[in-house]
Amino acid sequence: SLPTRVRIHEVGARDGLQNEKATLPTEMKARFIHRLADAGLTTIEATSFVHPKWVPQLADAEALFPLVDDLPVALPVLVPNERGLDRALALGARRVAVFASATESFAKANLNRTVDEALAMFDPVVTRARTEGGHVRGYLSMCFGDPWEGPVPIPQVVRVCRALLAMGCDELSLGDTIGVATPGHVQALLTALNEAGVPTSALGVHFHDTYGQALANTLTALRHGVTTVDASAGGLGGCPYAKSATGNLATEDLVWMLRGLGIDTGVDLGRLVATSEWMAAHLGRPSPSRTVRALGRT
Ligand code: HMG
Ligand code: MG
Repeated sequence: SLPTRVRIHEVGARDGLQNEKATLPTEMKARFIHRLADAGLTTIEATSFVHPKWVPQLADAEALFPLVDDLPVALPVLVPNERGLDRALALGARRVAVFASATESFAKANLNRTVDEALAMFDPVVTRARTEGGHVRGYLSMCFGDPWEGPVPIPQVVRVCRALLAMGCDELSLGDTIGVATPGHVQALLTALNEAGVPTSALGVHFHDTYGQALANTLTALRHGVTTVDASAGGLGGCPYAKSATGNLATEDLVWMLRGLGIDTGVDLGRLVATSEWMAAHLGRPSPSRTVRALGRT
């Protein structure tokens, strides 16, 4: 069976833009987020309060957030540590996300920490964010495969998921950072998590589309009862600290499939496609989304 409602967690402005070689002007990022909201998206990840040298593309977080925070949508932001949380709280952000790794190689590359050191870094962040009345998402990267370590054992993923929930995360997002997952693996991980006591209601999925499997993987997760799906407008994205990561599942491709399944998302596909074409024109290359290309004017 399938859920009747799906919440799309739009990550184009964060996961997408963090991976662009060119840093977009702040005003244009704000315009992008406004257009995503106008298209009907209700959870729009806005930016990251990470070290500006690590992700220079998002170094303007302080300037950007006040340009979008009046929108009537949820605007989660990434915070790796207490310094990041301080910056986010100072601007009034109350929905934050920490981002753990299931593998040591990526924890080192992305956070300069071991897996457990990173969890120790997040612990006070989660506690403080929740004390401030916030909502905390816990990302978990490399849930399926890792570019340095290969296939990732399921128990390793389950362990970190449980640690993030025990810390107080309100929801998790299972990341296929490099897009290598296939539906059988998705089904096996979701089942293992349930068996370990993790309820499906706490889980979202975050598929990158490197091998063209993101939609098939998403459908598998929906059939398992997952109702939160991450996607990026136009398929923008990747991760600067994981080689071979391409863009996320395109929001348009997701909306097209959900619409066909009779699952309403509230998204106006025409407006969203127009937004992604506008962004693609600025970035100087066509959107990789098949739906954008099929419905677009260019
Ligand atoms: P570090 O070098 O170990 O930092 O980096 P540190 O803790 O040793 O601090 C060094 C200096 O940085 C200090 O300054 C801190 O104040 C400063 P100093 O005292 O030397 O003058 N600093 C900061 N400044 C501003 N904002 C901050 C901050 N933190 C420290 N938040 C750190 C550790 C975590 C900071 C670094 O590794 C980092 O910023 N990493 C972020 C990488 C990132 O953003 N990656 C992309 C997001 S994850 C992703 O895309 C995957 C996902 O999409 C899911 C999936 O697909 O799997 C979510
Ligand atoms: Mg990602």
